[in-house]
Amino acid sequence: MTVSSFNSALDVVDFLRGQHAEAKELFAAALAVTGPRRAEAFTKLRRLLAVHEAAEERVIHPRARAEAPGGAQMVQARLAEEEEAKRALAELEGLDSDTTEFTDKLRELQEKVIEHAQREEREEFSWLAREFDPDELMAMGRAARLAESRAPTRPRPDSRVADSALAGPFVAMLDRARDFISGKV
Ligand SMILES: [Fe+2]
Ligand SMILES: [Fe+2]
Repeated sequence: MTVSSFNSALDVVDFLRGQHAEAKELFAAALAVTGPRRAEAFTKLRRLLAVHEAAEERVIHPRARAEAPGGAQMVQARLAEEEEAKRALAELEGLDSDTTEFTDKLRELQEKVIEHAQREEREEFSWLAREFDPDELMAMGRAARLAESRAPTRPRPDSRVADSALAGPFVAMLDRARDFISGKV
């Protein structure tokens, strides 16, 4: 990372909002095409969702849980939605991306992820923007960007664990993204 890109780090709310917008675009892109182009868009989408959810889990949810009014309940609800998305992604990873089943499930996930993002923006992000000063928001933004800047662009082929419903490449990427943010790698 260059000094100038480090200094131009956005605050955490702008950064995560930007990722929501990007996820929306990737869902639309994946649904608009078929074949290798769809597979490619889906790979990009799940990488984005992995680094995004890891950043939220590690950087903003703990603050909101501890400090926002009603934060524990709010974060619990968001984590439950994230867990549901994880299961849906694991299912999608097991399907041929050119089937109707894949298309239907991807569309369903698209709707849920968009609703989830809207709730975050309305509640958690608004609270962050209101309660924290710009320096703190920037510091959180830098932590959130760590996963995106360091995560591999493709899932590793050896990352499947056969007997777990959540062990597909998405989950491996999520784990790895969490480790980047926690400074373990
Ligand atoms: Fe989220
Ligand atoms: Fe989000």
